Amino acid sequence: MSVHERTRRAWEDASRKHVREYAEHLELARTARLLPIEEELLGPLLDGAEVLHPQSGHGLDDHALVRLGARAVRGLDYSSTAVGAAQRRAEELAVPCRYEVAELPRTGLAPGSADLVYTGKGALIWLEDLDAWAQEMHRLLRPGGHLFVYEAHPLVPLWAWDADEARVRADRSYFAASHVNDTFPAGGATEHQRTLAELVMTVLGAGFELLHLAEHPEPFWQPDGEDPAAAWDGRLPNAVSLLARRGA
Ligand SMILES: C[S@@+](CC[C@H](N)C(=O)[O-])C[C@H]1O[C@@H](n2cnc3c(N)ncnc32)[C@H](O)[C@@H]1O
Repeated sequence: MSVHERTRRAWEDASRKHVREYAEHLELARTARLLPIEEELLGPLLDGAEVLHPQSGHGLDDHALVRLGARAVRGLDYSSTAVGAAQRRAEELAVPCRYEVAELPRTGLAPGSADLVYTGKGALIWLEDLDAWAQEMHRLLRPGGHLFVYEAHPLVPLWAWDADEARVRADRSYFAASHVNDTFPAGGATEHQRTLAELVMTVLGAGFELLHLAEHPEPFWQPDGEDPAAAWDGRLPNAVSLLARRGA
């Protein structure tokens, strides 16, 4: 079985969590907010915007995007289970979010159909061909549209999550091409790695203009049972935000 197929199956399995936790997610969606840095950067861009959210997963951020002014959010994910749960919730709360099964990097959607592509929070590591992804995001945006990514910092796979002190794992390298995920939810699936420089150069290489790039100490997610202070402690980068514009 190919790496891609194994990862796809791992996500189809992991996405059952969205069905099991449907009621809890429904409540979270009613008050969902983006992170402060996201609100600061995206607030001015969202008024009346058509947003595309590739790898939308549970889609809770989509409710926050609508609350901040988006006219509509179109979520894409290759897990039909994730798409089904997110669509049901959007209908139940009567928000203008719609979900479709689509596989990246080539979605087959019409070009120039979004004002903003919003993505990340555990998304890009599953994509083998980041050049193809960046080109597709560029193609899907209207001229002048924006690409926003909030992701785990590329150094995160190296952190050992020891409770007493931040340590680097002996079995990982910042410059490796991939490693096997050993935490829930996609345990056993291959994560593709790229350095921060590779991410930025890929986005620029697809024709985007870089507007914002920042590193953050707080992780957006932590494995169950881990002490977050071990990983962030304010001393290490755990997330990265990137905003880029497609030229007019
Ligand atoms: C960490 S999860 C969700 C991220 C989402 N931002 C969230 O917060 O729920 C990553 C998602 O990417 C989806 N995914 C992974 N590779 C994909 C691909 N090649 N095409 C479409 N969806 C993909 C998975 O099904 C999963 O729902």
